[in-house]
Amino acid sequence: MCGIVGYTGINQVAQPILKGLKKLEYRGYDSSGIYINNGSSDILVKATGGVDDLRDVIEKQKKDLTGTAGIAHTRWATHGGVNVDNAHPHMSEDGRFYLVHNGVIENFQELKEQYLQDVNFHSETDSEVAVQLIDKFVKDGFSTFDSIRMMISKLDGESAYSFLIMDRKEPDLIFVAKNKSPMLVGLSDEGNVVASDAIGVLDITHDFIELHDGEIAVVDKNKVDLFDKNGKQIQRESFHVDIDASDTDKGIYPYYMLKEIDEQAIVARNLSEYYFDNNDQIQNIDPNIIKAMNDADRFYIIAAGTSWHAGLVGKRFFEQWANKPVEVFISSEFAFDQPKLSEKPFFIFLTQSGETADSREALIKIKEQGYPTLTLSNVMNSTLTREADFALPLMAGPEIAVASTKAYTAQIIAQSILAHAIGNSKMNIREELANIAVYMQSIIDSKEIFQKIANDALKNQRSAFYIGRGLDADVSYEAALKLKEISYIQTEGFAAGELKHGTISLIENKTPVFAFITQSKTAGLVRGNISETAARGAKTIIISSEKNAKSGDAYVLPQIPEIFMALLSVIPAQLIAYYATIDRGLNVDRPRNLAKSVTVQ
Ligand code: M6R
Repeated sequence: MCGIVGYTGINQVAQPILKGLKKLEYRGYDSSGIYINNGSSDILVKATGGVDDLRDVIEKQKKDLTGTAGIAHTRWATHGGVNVDNAHPHMSEDGRFYLVHNGVIENFQELKEQYLQDVNFHSETDSEVAVQLIDKFVKDGFSTFDSIRMMISKLDGESAYSFLIMDRKEPDLIFVAKNKSPMLVGLSDEGNVVASDAIGVLDITHDFIELHDGEIAVVDKNKVDLFDKNGKQIQRESFHVDIDASDTDKGIYPYYMLKEIDEQAIVARNLSEYYFDNNDQIQNIDPNIIKAMNDADRFYIIAAGTSWHAGLVGKRFFEQWANKPVEVFISSEFAFDQPKLSEKPFFIFLTQSGETADSREALIKIKEQGYPTLTLSNVMNSTLTREADFALPLMAGPEIAVASTKAYTAQIIAQSILAHAIGNSKMNIREELANIAVYMQSIIDSKEIFQKIANDALKNQRSAFYIGRGLDADVSYEAALKLKEISYIQTEGFAAGELKHGTISLIENKTPVFAFITQSKTAGLVRGNISETAARGAKTIIISSEKNAKSGDAYVLPQIPEIFMALLSVIPAQLIAYYATIDRGLNVDRPRNLAKSVTVQ
């Protein structure tokens, strides 16, 4: 979950590298660093904080970053605190090798004790062990390439890594190695780049070669040599990434999160256009996916965080329209505590990034058992889309803010389309989505209402609750995650009926309790639950649907089929979270301790 950029070119590379690193800050922003290797002198600068902090240090120290090859890193700390020493790039003891790392080296302590007892370490990180090992093997007489291979061979099989390594003696080369952590090599006429996410280098190229686990690439300014895990040179075709670099800019918005909330109506339209033809018939879904799903006796949806919440909602489409039983699992739980499966299971992975390590671990284990798998992801060509049997896109465009918004609604819509494709929704989904997009926009256009709700209900609060029943409970989980992860208000989302079984003891005078009431079956019951909290002093805020509205409700959502209500009810929750965070003066896009792509377990 760290951001990595490397560039070896014919022109100066420091500014394009820093620009790329800035784009990847969403992957980690505890600390950052850059190393430029220009043959005669080397420049290493590190800072705590993000790329702007790094630029400040560069300026303060009057560093001249002249050079045509370099590597840089923005960190999300795993081993060792957040300080300059622990920031990457790490340097070998004699200053010959420089390395940046994304991932975790499980056995770094053992390696230190076994091979590096005489080395003076500068940091507490697992990553530094890798660069010191390379240095040791080179001193033992091996080439840089072989030393990198030897270093990798010593890492525990569970270790996740992507490394960029530079050698002062070969200043134009960037050595790249990867296992489990994502890494792409980008090709251009002005040199070649390496990045942990294509978004970081779209200004330079749209053509990439993917690296598979265990492979090493040696990237020079005018060629890329790729080697398999046995050290044998291999060839691989490049692929084109069709994202406009401007899609990754904030444009007129103060924060990516607000931009991405605003884009949800467009995303609904994009999905509809992509998956339906002009005659309302499904398109762009491989018939083999439909067949494999129809052949299955049960679906297992596997996902993490917000994507897991989207899976809870999606379950309803598959059960009601496709008549298949569905179980929804948190990936990190499924991977190590697999339940007894049905005879013919079909696995659906939901993942915005396509790189989530927990989900990938589950995918690896399912594939070992030979079951069919499908990934729904916002990033095609990501690890989980490549490694599953089938993949379908979410069409949401790059999502940069750590707090996921448009990917959640896209995942719900994509699941509804898939369930419609394999079953019978008895609806014209294309028409429904067209209406939903219009309603989404009307809610988005009512921002000031949610700004006021956030201000009135949350300004000085330490805790809050979201409740609902059935589908409204599913949205409550997501609403609570949104609020807590960016505003740091401790928020619980749960099934309203559970209140009286324990949690109601937390209700104090003015504790904010938000309720979703969009499901007719349970509307009366949730109103009862919310009254119970009001009787104990809670400040209650009800978000209802037209059909279930009562006077005094804080916001009434337009009526759409109840099974789709999550697509509307989540938007007020996203906006309330956004404004509550703004009220606290916090950085909405970069909540503390978090990163966008969680590529460690
Ligand atoms: O990329 P993924 O959808 O697999 O990521 C899973 C979670 O890390 C992610 O949904 C996370 O919970 C959200 N960014 C929170 O807003």
